[in-house]
Amino acid sequence: MEHQYSEEDLKNIAKQLSCPEGEHGIKTGEMMHASNLGMTSSAIDALNLQNNDTVLEIGHGNGGHIAQLLSKAENLTYYGADISETIIAEAEKINQYFVDKGIIHFELTDGDTLPFENNQFDKIFSVNTIYFWNNPKRYLNEIKRVLRPNGIFVLCFADKTFMQDLPFTSYGFTLYEVEKVQELLESAGFKIKNTIQKTEQLKSKTGEQVQRAYHVVVASIE
Ligand SMILES: C[S@@+](CC[C@H](N)C(=O)[O-])C[C@H]1O[C@@H](n2cnc3c(N)ncnc32)[C@H](O)[C@@H]1O
Repeated sequence: MEHQYSEEDLKNIAKQLSCPEGEHGIKTGEMMHASNLGMTSSAIDALNLQNNDTVLEIGHGNGGHIAQLLSKAENLTYYGADISETIIAEAEKINQYFVDKGIIHFELTDGDTLPFENNQFDKIFSVNTIYFWNNPKRYLNEIKRVLRPNGIFVLCFADKTFMQDLPFTSYGFTLYEVEKVQELLESAGFKIKNTIQKTEQLKSKTGEQVQRAYHVVVASIE
């Protein structure tokens, strides 16, 4: 039988998805990892990782996918930036071996700026976070600042038509059609190299079987 959620429950689910906190946040991190691995893997594939790349992921969740990312090429360095202290602590725990070796680093961000040097990254990606960006144009400018001139940025998100049917997305999510995201990227000075649309079958955060349509947009500066 389908579980009935109160408005308070739905607000709480939305809050935990946007910034996981405490014990509930750790569980949300596990659930996101499992249900979003298809999207995350598609984004990682689109990065076309090369030996010695330095990669930034924005909003990495619990980081259960990072070992898989590191196996894609030789001598990769991974940086994660997230607004949640809970999720950073969890991602550090899950990836302790690589953190100790200095291959993986995590930084807390305020969600508007990125605590990195200009031109620091060969590849940058983000999955299921654009819904929570306060000011997408400003954030995209930050992303452009820390991306090397010949670097690649991959943005992966579920389509508005899918997202708007989920009961918790009325609480603090901004939803996007692919054209709007392409327009935002272009107005921030990115060039769209490729846009891939995919669909997958999954169980939603509230228990129903759903067909999710999502986009992987690959962009560069030059
Ligand atoms: C819905 S979860 C997605 C996690 C993972 N990428 C996935 O698809 O399973 C959103 C993640 O992004 C983080 N987040 C939300 N807004 C952010 C922002 N503006 N900058 C960086 N991280 C953000 C949250 O703390 C959370 O870890």
